Amino acid sequence: MTYFIWNMGCQMNDADMRVLSEQLQARGSWPVSSPEEADLVVVNTCIIRQSAENRALGRIARLRHLKRQRPERLIAVSGCLIGHAGNPDLANQFPFVDIFLPPSEFEPLLRRLPPPIQTSTSCATPVSDRVATVLGCSQACTYCVVPSRRGPEHSRLPEVILDDVRTLVRRGVREVTLLGQIVDRYGHDLGPGINLAGLLRAVGRVPGLHRLRFLTSHPRWFDLSVIEAVAELKAACPLFEIPVQSGNDDILRRMRRGYTVDAFRRLIEAIRSRVPDAALHTDVIVGFPGESEAAFQDTYRLLQEIQFDKVHVARYSPRPGTTAAEEMEDDVPEEEKERRFWAVEYLQREILARTAQSWQGKTVSVLVETTDAAGRWRGRTHRDQLVFFDDPNERLGQIVDVRIEQTDPFWFVGRPAASTAGHFQPGAG
Ligand code: SAH
Ligand code: SF4
Ligand code: F3S
Repeated sequence: MTYFIWNMGCQMNDADMRVLSEQLQARGSWPVSSPEEADLVVVNTCIIRQSAENRALGRIARLRHLKRQRPERLIAVSGCLIGHAGNPDLANQFPFVDIFLPPSEFEPLLRRLPPPIQTSTSCATPVSDRVATVLGCSQACTYCVVPSRRGPEHSRLPEVILDDVRTLVRRGVREVTLLGQIVDRYGHDLGPGINLAGLLRAVGRVPGLHRLRFLTSHPRWFDLSVIEAVAELKAACPLFEIPVQSGNDDILRRMRRGYTVDAFRRLIEAIRSRVPDAALHTDVIVGFPGESEAAFQDTYRLLQEIQFDKVHVARYSPRPGTTAAEEMEDDVPEEEKERRFWAVEYLQREILARTAQSWQGKTVSVLVETTDAAGRWRGRTHRDQLVFFDDPNERLGQIVDVRIEQTDPFWFVGRPAASTAGHFQPGAG
C-alpha cells in the first residue's frame, strides 16, 4: 500500500508525521511523491491563524476528486483542525474523508491496516530530527487555539524520551530537537526533580548525538538552570527560542502572557552573560486588539534593542473560541497590521544584514544536513545559521569547519577550513 502525507504547521506536526510514517512503513506501506499515486492520503492540519486554516480546508477540498476517482482510496485528515476532543461537524462538511484523527493519535487509522510486520523502518534517515517532550498546553494565552486543540499539558517520561533519542541516533540522526509548546515546563507534572535542565543533561549524554536543541521556551517558566545546562553541555546548541509576543506590558497582560517586558529583558541579560555566543529567536504578534501605535513602537524598540537572530512575526488573527476573539474587538485595521508586519520584517533584515557581515572570514562548525540544487553541501551552525559550501568529499551528517566567504542576511557561503578539508586543498577548487 502506498501513502502520501500532506503536512503543514509547526515542528510538533512534523514530529507527529515522522511517527506516523514509521508506523505505516512498519506495516509494509511505502511513501510516494504525489497524492494521485497514493492508496492512503493524510492531510495533517494547522489552524494557528485563519490563513493556515483556509489552506488546510483548501487542501482537504482538493481530495474530493481523488476519492471520486478511486473510492477505495483511504482519505485521512489529522491534526489541529480536528482537535483532541474531535470535531463532529467535519464529517458533514467533508463526507469523502474516511477518518479524522486528533493530533498525535494514529490508532483509528492504524487499526484499518494490517498489523506491523517489522520493527525497524526503511525511512530515509534525516541528519536532524525531533522528539516531543511536553504534549499539549495549559497556558491559555488569550489569542491561542493550541490548548483547545492539543489538550492539557502533559510530559512524556524521561526514559521514553531517552529511548526515542537513542533509537534515532542508532539510525544515524545526529541532531535532536526536544519539542514542547512550553518546553521549559517539562516535568512539572511528573514530580519534583524532573525538569528541562535534567532532561537536557540526560539526552546530551547519549553517545553519538552531536547536537541537542530545544523549543519553545516560555519567558514565564524559563529557569536559569536551563542556561547552566546549555553552558555546560557540549552537545547543547546555544540557541534560545523565546517568544516575547509584544514589547508592551499592557498588551502582554491582555494576551495573558504572565511576564513583563522588564522581566523578559532580565532573562535575555542572564542568557547573554552566561552564554555569550547565544543565538536568540523570538515570535511577535502585531495588531493585537488594543495595540496602539505607541504600543507597537514599544515592540519595535525592544526588537531594535535586543537584536534577535530570528523574529517570526505574525499579524493577529482572531481564532473562534479564544478569549481574545470572544471578548476583545479586533480593532487594528488589516492595512495597519500589514504595515506593522513589514516594519518588523524590514527592521529584522537590516539587523541581520549588519550582524551577518561580522561573520565574514570567521570559521564556523557546520552540521551537514543535505545538498542544494547546485550540489553544494547545506548545513547549519550550532547557532542555526544556514551555510552552503562546496566539497568533493562525502560530508552528509558530518560536522565540518567552514570559513565564511560570503554573507547574506539569511545565509552564508564558505569553504572547508584546512583542518577538516580531508583530501581537498583549500584554494584548489
Ligand atoms: N507555545 C509558543 C507558541 C505557539 S504558537 C509560545 O507560547 O510562544 C506559534 C506562534 O504563532 C506564536 O508564538 C504566535 O506568535 C503565533 N500565533 C498564535 N496564535 C496567533 C493568533 N491568533 N494570531 C496571530 N499569531 C498567532
Ligand atoms: Fe499558545 Fe500560549 Fe500555549 Fe504558547 S503558551 S501554545 S501561545 S497558549
Ligand atoms: Fe498549528 Fe497546531 Fe502547531 S495549530 S502551530 S499545528 S500546535
